[in-house]
Amino acid sequence: MKAALLAIGVLAATTSANAKFCRCQPDQRCWPSDDSWARLNSSTDGNLVKVTPYALPCHDPTFNEAECTIAKTNSNSSSYRSSDPGALQWSNWEAWPEKDEQCYIETSKTTPCKQGRIPLFSVKAQEAKHIQEAVNFAAKHNLKLVIKNTGHDFVGRSSAPNSLQIFTHEMKEISILDDFVPTAPKNKRAPPGIKAVTLGAGVQLHEMYSYLGSRGLMVVGGTANTVGITGGYIQGGGHSLLGWLHGMASDNALEFHVVLADGSLVVANDYQNSDLFFALRGGGGGSFGVVVSATVKAHPDYPTVVATINYTTPIGAPYWDGVDALQKHILEINDKGGTGFYGLVPNTPISDSQTVSLMILSATFVNQTDTKAIEDLLAPVKSEIKDAIGLEPYFDVTALPSLSTYYSALLGENDTTGLQIRFASRLISRDLFKSGNHNKLTKAVSSLRYGPGDAIVGAIVAGGQVSENRDIESGLNPAWRDALVHVIAAHWMSPEMTFDQQKALEANITNVEVPLLKSLEPGKMGAYMNEADADETDFQESFWGDNYPRLREIKALRDPYDLFIVRKGVGSEDWDDSGLCRV
Ligand SMILES: Cc1cc2nc3c(=O)[nH]c(=O)nc-3n(C[C@H](O)[C@H](O)[C@H](O)COP(=O)(O)OP(=O)(O)OC[C@H]3O[C@@H](n4cnc5c(N)ncnc54)[C@H](O)[C@@H]3O)c2cc1C
Ligand SMILES: *[C@@H]1O[C@H](CO)[C@@H](O)[C@H](O)[C@H]1NC(C)=O
Ligand SMILES: *[C@@H]1O[C@H](CO)[C@@H](O)[C@H](O)[C@H]1NC(C)=O
Ligand SMILES: *[C@@H]1O[C@H](CO)[C@@H](O)[C@H](O)[C@H]1NC(C)=O
Ligand SMILES: *[C@@H]1O[C@H](CO)[C@@H](O)[C@H](O)[C@H]1NC(C)=O
Ligand SMILES: *[C@@H]1O[C@H](CO)[C@@H](O)[C@H](O)[C@H]1NC(C)=O
Ligand SMILES: *[C@@H]1O[C@H](CO)[C@@H](O)[C@H](O)[C@H]1NC(C)=O
Repeated sequence: MKAALLAIGVLAATTSANAKFCRCQPDQRCWPSDDSWARLNSSTDGNLVKVTPYALPCHDPTFNEAECTIAKTNSNSSSYRSSDPGALQWSNWEAWPEKDEQCYIETSKTTPCKQGRIPLFSVKAQEAKHIQEAVNFAAKHNLKLVIKNTGHDFVGRSSAPNSLQIFTHEMKEISILDDFVPTAPKNKRAPPGIKAVTLGAGVQLHEMYSYLGSRGLMVVGGTANTVGITGGYIQGGGHSLLGWLHGMASDNALEFHVVLADGSLVVANDYQNSDLFFALRGGGGGSFGVVVSATVKAHPDYPTVVATINYTTPIGAPYWDGVDALQKHILEINDKGGTGFYGLVPNTPISDSQTVSLMILSATFVNQTDTKAIEDLLAPVKSEIKDAIGLEPYFDVTALPSLSTYYSALLGENDTTGLQIRFASRLISRDLFKSGNHNKLTKAVSSLRYGPGDAIVGAIVAGGQVSENRDIESGLNPAWRDALVHVIAAHWMSPEMTFDQQKALEANITNVEVPLLKSLEPGKMGAYMNEADADETDFQESFWGDNYPRLREIKALRDPYDLFIVRKGVGSEDWDDSGLCRV
């Protein structure tokens, strides 16, 4: 009934005005009255707040010295930014360049603070009912809806101008289930119970790792502190140091509780709403519904061996020869269970007059204890790097009692954020490395432009069970099954740049760098939707390959009026960049 009424409303809106169909804007008569907002507030038990940009107290005429000092002190803290509905982690997504609106902490006090892409209202959800009320309210009033969990999204999916936000950060449930059986309809037989963990929408990685680690457990999760687990991470696929042993995070999902566009709360698993289950495992956050909780497989908190190789050289050719020597061995390292990251920072200023190039490999071998075997595996890599760069690299192999120990040592509690960043990225196949073409990858990355601190991250997070899970039917980008390395080129931007300067840098990423990486394997592979160029062309093909048509169908069925539209998400091609008007 509700859906039918809504259909009429939408039809009326699209046919009556000659203008294109848009979400209701604050200056229009359709905008909810104060009384309507007050009713939403009471139906969400007083959890509705007005949202202001993070840096508002640092600008006239709202300047407030004490509050501004607090905002400045915490500006690089991802914990702080997670807990504020008016903040994102990457401040470029707080701005709205098309309208020349921004509110940065770095700009002068006299620069006015504009709302930008920061939502106008937020429901700080404590329970599923609050999410249902917010969804129904947005549908009824034709509002742009946004879901913010931690605000870490690199593609601008957790903010939109003039929107109503659902803030999931405070939903912190973690429960361990010794004998989890998916909820199945009466006519279907569910499998025997297994050990699992149910995670609320707001749980962040460091909270989960410390809770599970102290109980000898682990799940497939990301290498970060404050990134959420059940939001964008798992719904986009989720790569992990545990992936080689157990597959992608989305492969490990057993069940989702999710609020749909019609306001209903449903269970999605292999036994019911299996279309949604397909979509929520890789189809991307914010596109199909609001996940209230996810139940995922529990694994032991395995012992782990960590190997480090790093070096510092002057800028120039030998630096890249060292990188090539490393890339030559990645397949072999991965075949022995090695995962992890290599970071390249070719342009690292260390003083006013000196700039060096850094390489650091941190390879983790999960469920292994034999340090001698890892030393033997990596000794030739180290010596080939030495021959290439003419210097002895640092080399260390350490056994740790558990993966959670590694996470807490490596990660601590906060990620550094509050900065501005853009990516070019590509999934690089196992075949490329197998056929000895690692040098093509080296050549491609060495030809990119590196501003100070710009980095390449080589995430060795595929192979092993990620490849073996090829037969799992899910929305995940099928390219993951053939991948070995997920390569990201990260470019810093600065709040001091004008929007035009930023646009030029972004255009170069999209028109020069991504095509260069793509040309390594034309017509194959793709990119990871969560860590990609935010203006990726042909994003449907890059992020989902052959899965896109099915995801699009599920989207049309489950969200027929496009309540859940995010940048470069399933179905977003029908909307403008802000998700405000149909195109
Ligand atoms: C420091 C750092 C390290 C990272 N490491 C990894 C890694 O090791 N592996 C990896 O795979 N990725 C990694 N990422 C990328 C990460 O997966 C993405 O940034 C992801 O979008 C974060 O999801 P979030 O829910 O925390 O963020 P948000 O920005 O809050 O949300 C991301 C998207 O999901 C949607 N969403 C959020 N919550 C829900 C919900 N409950 N229901 C439906 N939609 C929702 C939002 O609308 C948005 O579209 C890393 C990111 C950072 C910043
Ligand atoms: C919602 O209600 C709470 C509790 O009554 C109140 O503190 C808050 O200011 C209200 N929010 C808005 C946006 O009016
Ligand atoms: C935040 O990080 C930037 C870039 O590293 C730095 O310039 C700035 O001083 C940091 N801010 C604080 C308060 O530490
Ligand atoms: C993380 O950030 C929060 C909020 O800014 C702060 O209270 C906490 O001390 C930080 N933790 C660490 C380990 O820096
Ligand atoms: C390598 O890393 C170690 C440990 O972090 C550090 O002490 C060392 O200076 C680094 N060496 C080089 C050559 O970069
Ligand atoms: C972990 O290692 C143990 C001991 O080698 C082995 O028996 C077990 O099968 C391994 N677990 C996985 C998931 O590979
Ligand atoms: C565009 O990118 C390429 C490759 O990174 C680089 O060589 C070139 O300098 C860039 N151009 C601009 C204008 O930034």
